[in-house]
Parts: sequence; C-alpha cells; structure tokens
Amino acid sequence: MEKSLILIKPDALQRGLAGEILSRFEKKGMKIVAMKMLHMDRKLAEQHYSIHKGKGFFAELINYITSSPVIAVVLQGKSAVEVIRRTLGETDPAKASPGTVRGDFGLDIGYNLVHGSDSIENARKEISLFFGTDELVDYSRDIDRWIQ
Ligand SMILES: Nc1ncnc2c1ncn2[C@@H]1O[C@H](COP(=O)(O)OP(=O)(O)OP(=O)(O)O)[C@@H](O)[C@H]1O
Ligand SMILES: [Mg+2]
Repeated sequence: MEKSLILIKPDALQRGLAGEILSRFEKKGMKIVAMKMLHMDRKLAEQHYSIHKGKGFFAELINYITSSPVIAVVLQGKSAVEVIRRTLGETDPAKASPGTVRGDFGLDIGYNLVHGSDSIENARKEISLFFGTDELVDYSRDIDRWIQ
C-alpha cells in the first residue's frame, strides 16, 4: 500500500488547524503510520526543498518553514500520493478549489498550510529524510476492510 509524507506547516500549527487537517486525511480513510513534531533547522529545510534551490522564493521558503514547528506525518492508503495532493489543492491557496485544504483555509502561496510529496519516488526520499525505518509503525485496523 502506498505511503506519502505530509508536513503540517508552521502557519497551520500557529492557526490551530493541525487537527482539522489531520482529521480530513483520517476521514478519507488514510492510515497514520508515523508522526512527529519538530522544529526544522535550515539544513533539513534546504534538503527537503533542494529542488527549489536557486529560485527567487527559496530564501523566503526556508525562513518560513523553519520559523516555527511542523508536524511530519506518514500516511498510508490506496494511491496515497495522488489522493493527498488532490486533497491539498493547488500550490497557491487563492487558486485552490473550495473543498481542498488550501482552498478552504489559505490565501497566500507562501502560507499554504501543508506539504504533500509529489511523486512515489519523492515520497520515499522524504519519508527517509524525516523518519528512521524503525519509526514507521506496521499495524492493521479492523475498519480497513470497509475502506479497501
Ligand atoms: N512562485 C512562488 N512564489 C512564492 N512561493 C512559492 C512559489 N512557488 C512555490 N512556492 C512555495 O514553495 C513551496 C514549494 O513549491 P512546490 O512547487 O513544491 O509546491 P507544492 O508541491 O504545491 O508545495 P509543497 O512542496 O510545499 O507541498 C510551496 O508550497 C510554496 O509555499
Ligand atoms: Mg512540492
């Protein structure tokens, strides 16, 4: 079953939206298999967003993601990567559809509340950046036969 990484970003935590956001994924049927709260340092932030190095918004992005704690979560479920990205909505909350996390709660591209891995390969890399293999919990839920 596919796994993906989400980061509940500083603005979501500061605004008291962490539970609301996590709840949407739980209600969708996703299984939480790892979770931790951390204050990202610049090294981890630059690794996580290394693909954006050199872009105009990079410094601002690193300042923002390191400005306050985040919650890193590994979610597991059918087509987890794609389903999570669709649940988050477009990068720019002003353009994201209502019903998505960004569409419902955000306004500015720099404050878009949640990160979600954008491919299976990047999900694998990002999960290993934030979690050791021993931190991923393998368990079954009785309700999964009703979700599939
Ligand atoms: N043009 C831009 N101006 C300002 N900030 C931007 C811009 N493009 C992207 N960002 C910021 O950089 C982050 C990473 O950009 P990316 O293109 O990976 O978007 P994303 O995959 O939707 O977001 P994330 O990786 O955080 O899930 C975005 O979440 C956004 O906060
Ligand atoms: Mg991205």
